[in-house]
Amino acid sequence: MSFAVIVVAAGSGTRFGGNTAKQFLPLGGKPLVQHSLELFLGQTACAELILVVPPTGVAVPLPAFLLNHPLVRMVKGGSSRQESVRHGLEALTAKTEYVLIHDAARPLLTEKALNTLLAALPGKDGAILGHGVVDTLKHTTTSGDILTTLERSVLWAAETPQAFRTDAIKKAHAQFADLSVSDDSALAELSGLNITMVENPDANMKITHPGDLALAEAILATRGGSNAEGFRVGYGVDIHPFTAGDAVTLGGVRIPHTHALKGHSDADAVLHALTDALLGAMGEADIGVHFPPNDTTWRGAASRIFVDKAMQLLRARGGSVVNVDLTIISEAPKIAPHREAIRQNIAGLLGIAVDAVAIKATTAEKLGWIGRGEGLYASAAVLVRL
Ligand code: CTP
Ligand code: MG
Repeated sequence: MSFAVIVVAAGSGTRFGGNTAKQFLPLGGKPLVQHSLELFLGQTACAELILVVPPTGVAVPLPAFLLNHPLVRMVKGGSSRQESVRHGLEALTAKTEYVLIHDAARPLLTEKALNTLLAALPGKDGAILGHGVVDTLKHTTTSGDILTTLERSVLWAAETPQAFRTDAIKKAHAQFADLSVSDDSALAELSGLNITMVENPDANMKITHPGDLALAEAILATRGGSNAEGFRVGYGVDIHPFTAGDAVTLGGVRIPHTHALKGHSDADAVLHALTDALLGAMGEADIGVHFPPNDTTWRGAASRIFVDKAMQLLRARGGSVVNVDLTIISEAPKIAPHREAIRQNIAGLLGIAVDAVAIKATTAEKLGWIGRGEGLYASAAVLVRL
């Protein structure tokens, strides 16, 4: 089941205070909003993601791979959360049955929670994540005099994401635009839709007050996977023989040569070594397992798809690349004239700065099979934050 996502990040965070809106402050080494964007974009079922940004036009501090992501579109929000969501709904183009609406201010959403929510959707107009209330709840007058004690077992605190049938929630938002509510489910309820509460198995706090950020950092640290302290190294190697042809592709850059490289896909040994290094850093099986060589899908394919897939896996786990160091060993062609183009291409694929990409080339001094010009060897070392 594919779905569209709206992430609202257009608020000004008045309760949090400060000069930078809370959803753009760093948490675990990256902007708050980036956590949920990466989680959603790591799902193959995600067909479109509308990021609702402040109407003030402030720069959105996200890495290029997210700003330019093919599934991401940015639209400006409004003066209330409700208006921001409406702008997001109006901007949807994917014709998915369901749309998920999520607050950028909830960076701790887990894949497990998301899957629990999605599993509750079939047959419903919508489902929302929430948690049971643990405190005893009192209903008071506005001046604080207690009127009564509420029955806790049927009371929930609503979270996001909240998922709805796309047409139904669009209609509800349009119909009740004049009412002011604090979540989308409230409008769905007014429309008489059938919405289910789904208990979130994980913490999913909303960053509201300044102290919340330290608590979120601590929760992130207990999960082990996503805090800035976790670094892992990956290493990959690839070899391809030369064959008849007039160019090789290395690091995604076509280099005219007296021969071509032979292999499945476009035989880009640099991107293959890089893919294996990324997979290795995650403790994953190698490129041949993820992309079987006998599968004709990859014949002649541009090898960036392998890197993209490895990056998708990495981002789904909340990881990011710190730097990469590549080495080519071959008698020819000369790499130096193409070094900058390769660095730029790879920096774009990994979502990192060009100066975090190194590519070196050396010959084998005429020794062995490399020395006889029979093939080319490439290696990649990467450091990832995971
Ligand atoms: N939001 C939005 N547009 C608005 C107001 C809020 O997109 N006009 C978003 C926020 O960016 C946040 C989510 O809605 O991701 C939940 O809102 P809230 O936690 O209340 O954030 P703020 O409105 O920014 O904070 P405050 O109410 O303290 O000003
Ligand atoms: Mg608000």
